[in-house]
Amino acid sequence: MADQIRVLVVDDIPETRDHLTKLLGFESDIDVVGAAASGREAVEMAVRLSPDVVLMDINMPDMDGIAATEQLSASAPGAAVVMMSVQGEADYLRRSMLAGAREFLVKPFSSDELTASIRQVSARERDKQSRMAVAPVAAGSAPGGTSSASGESREPGLVVAVFSPKGGVGRTTVAVNLAVAAATELGKRVVIMDGSFQFGDVGVLLNLNPRSKSIADLIPELDVGELDSIDTFLIDHTAGIRVLLAPPTPETAEMITAAGVKKVLESLRMNHDLVVVDCTAFFNDTTLAILDSADVILTMLSLEITSIKNMRLFLEVAEQLGYESGKVRLILNRADSALGIRVADVEHSIGRKVDETIVSDGRSVVYALNRGVPFFLSNREAQVSQDILRLARSVVGERASKASADDSHKATQKKSLFAWR
Ligand SMILES: Nc1ncnc2c1ncn2[C@@H]1O[C@H](COP(=O)(O)OP(=O)(O)OP(=O)(O)O)[C@@H](O)[C@H]1O
Ligand SMILES: [Mg+2]
Repeated sequence: MADQIRVLVVDDIPETRDHLTKLLGFESDIDVVGAAASGREAVEMAVRLSPDVVLMDINMPDMDGIAATEQLSASAPGAAVVMMSVQGEADYLRRSMLAGAREFLVKPFSSDELTASIRQVSARERDKQSRMAVAPVAAGSAPGGTSSASGESREPGLVVAVFSPKGGVGRTTVAVNLAVAAATELGKRVVIMDGSFQFGDVGVLLNLNPRSKSIADLIPELDVGELDSIDTFLIDHTAGIRVLLAPPTPETAEMITAAGVKKVLESLRMNHDLVVVDCTAFFNDTTLAILDSADVILTMLSLEITSIKNMRLFLEVAEQLGYESGKVRLILNRADSALGIRVADVEHSIGRKVDETIVSDGRSVVYALNRGVPFFLSNREAQVSQDILRLARSVVGERASKASADDSHKATQKKSLFAWR
């Protein structure tokens, strides 16, 4: 039937090709349409067979998986690549993602992991295709409309991911204070989710005990059934926001799947105006799921050469993932802490304007951190709080103005995104 996922297997070792083909042969929704023994053959077969997913080995003699993936993005753009590697190194992962791969599997993997990845990338790709085919809609307006638990119809909330391709640039600080500002000043129903599942810090900044309730409690419901008990595991914080903490132990984090995360976010947006997600600085499948689900990605950078370099790479990845350019907003944190680099230099280097800036204020930020009280509450008048409020207004206001301004905003941003290429 038309919904079959057409897969091309690429590996230079004949036994691996056979094994993978046989394994996938057991799945009723997956069709292996061909098997290639080299990168070159993969490109040729992908053009001819138009697979939905290419399962690609990274190490092959003539043309490796990364080079083949790069070629595929030009010659068979509809084919989503799942890269297979024996090494799980961050550099391999990053290079694969930059080449256009959608998923990364480290050998040996189980057949469940394999089929889940294939289904995920194929669903994501179909989603992207249909989004691109349909005229742009207002942020957060999920297809088919929604209704709250009470049956009353309301617009689903906005999902805002706070991300950066480099750690330590202030994601958690900004995510927490943004959530508090939107709740206390703008009267929004806000939930913050700690999307840094292994080493989340949201609980620390909010002085919450991470062992009490967390997303780990939802694991049994994540991949089967409805998230009926999600409300039970949200913590009501005195700052007027609700919190979904990261699991108490890093091992538990591994049990959280990309599909599960999407489900959690969809559920949270049904009952809140704003869902703020503090992400990791690493591209894994759950982070990608968060970025995919988000209406807005606040991408944080600082005035450091490494942060700027990573931002450039991230913008390329975002484009390859098919994100509309208006979805990615650049937020410069500690904007006045220049050590020889000016904002204009940053903008020139990444070929895009910075959308919002936040000043550096070590005193307010660290004092608040040590007390476990967000600085937006303890030092409301500080410039850093004003900056956060301006950011909150622009994010929340985004929704209202989005429908009308979307097209022109996107057009301008798209131009600037491509200007540096
Ligand atoms: N605007 C700011 N002014 C002064 N200090 C700041 C500011 N923003 C963040 N910081 C400080 O920078 C450090 C890193 O911030 P934070 O933990 O929020 O970053 P992160 O990106 O979440 O880091 P991680 O990669 O560890 O998750 C903290 O010590 C924080 O107090
Ligand atoms: Mg953090």
